[in-house]
Amino acid sequence: MAETYKDGIIYSNTEISPNIYEIILEGDFEGKPGQFYMVRGWNGLDPFLPRPISIADLENGRIKLLYEVRGKGTHIISKLKKGDKLSILGPLGNGFNIKEEGKIALITGGVGIAPMLYLAKNLFAEIDIFSGFRSNAYFLDQIRPYVKNTFIATEDGSTGHKGFVTELFDPSKYDVVYTCGPTPMMEVVMKMCKGKVPVYVSMENRMACGIGACLGCTVETTRGMERVCKEGPVFKGEEVVLHD
Ligand SMILES: Cc1cc2nc3c(=O)[nH]c(=O)nc-3n(C[C@H](O)[C@H](O)[C@H](O)COP(=O)(O)OP(=O)(O)OC[C@H]3O[C@@H](n4cnc5c(N)ncnc54)[C@H](O)[C@@H]3O)c2cc1C
Ligand code: FES
Repeated sequence: MAETYKDGIIYSNTEISPNIYEIILEGDFEGKPGQFYMVRGWNGLDPFLPRPISIADLENGRIKLLYEVRGKGTHIISKLKKGDKLSILGPLGNGFNIKEEGKIALITGGVGIAPMLYLAKNLFAEIDIFSGFRSNAYFLDQIRPYVKNTFIATEDGSTGHKGFVTELFDPSKYDVVYTCGPTPMMEVVMKMCKGKVPVYVSMENRMACGIGACLGCTVETTRGMERVCKEGPVFKGEEVVLHD
């Protein structure tokens, strides 16, 4: 990976659900499921830092990113149009450890669904996906061709089970679990899986450099403090130290 930013030309930037955008960039991008790019969609120093976004899909060098508009950075990116440029650095971090046997569960919360399409396309195993959303479900239509069963939960009950997605999940039915989403959700998944089934978690700590230099993104693991951008973002659940 060259540690310099390069341009990606926007092929499309579409709002697929309220505040959720899918952006496709032209280019010769590479990367493994679970890796991410640092993305900058503005000139100048405001906001100062680029934003980390996971690889949602990669096909013929074109990269797809799925992002939720949260603050200034993602708001600026959401206003960009076909033909505009994004400055991006990657692929960064270690991806998911790919297992090709047994029954696999993917568990996602909100935009934590982003890395799961590219992961599911590369697993070649029997996969069930459990996805939780606040309200509208999104992106699952693209993932469905690669999974056997889809379980949906929404906090407002508008689609699927009313409540949290972890209420639908039984760890004893699976050989491997991959999860990405808000930290409290991933902590529940880690606790449910502990001693029963291996779980891989993709951490979403705030990042500054993305390349291991600033130590701004560290997480406590059984080996000591580790950088989410370099040693992660994917960790084995048993290695992440949970605090009650
Ligand atoms: C490895 C990695 C991969 C990620 N992949 C995706 C992705 O595919 N799609 C996506 O939508 N988001 C992803 N995120 C989160 C994304 O980077 C943040 O949502 C984004 O940086 C917010 O920038 P902003 O300028 O819009 O908001 P800011 O103004 O910086 O912050 C607005 C809100 O977002 C929260 N926030 C900021 N950074 C993060 C973060 N890293 N994780 C969680 N919450 C954050 C803040 O606490 C605040 O509440 C990823 C984060 C990491 C570390
Ligand atoms: S973001 Fe700088 S070390 Fe991880």
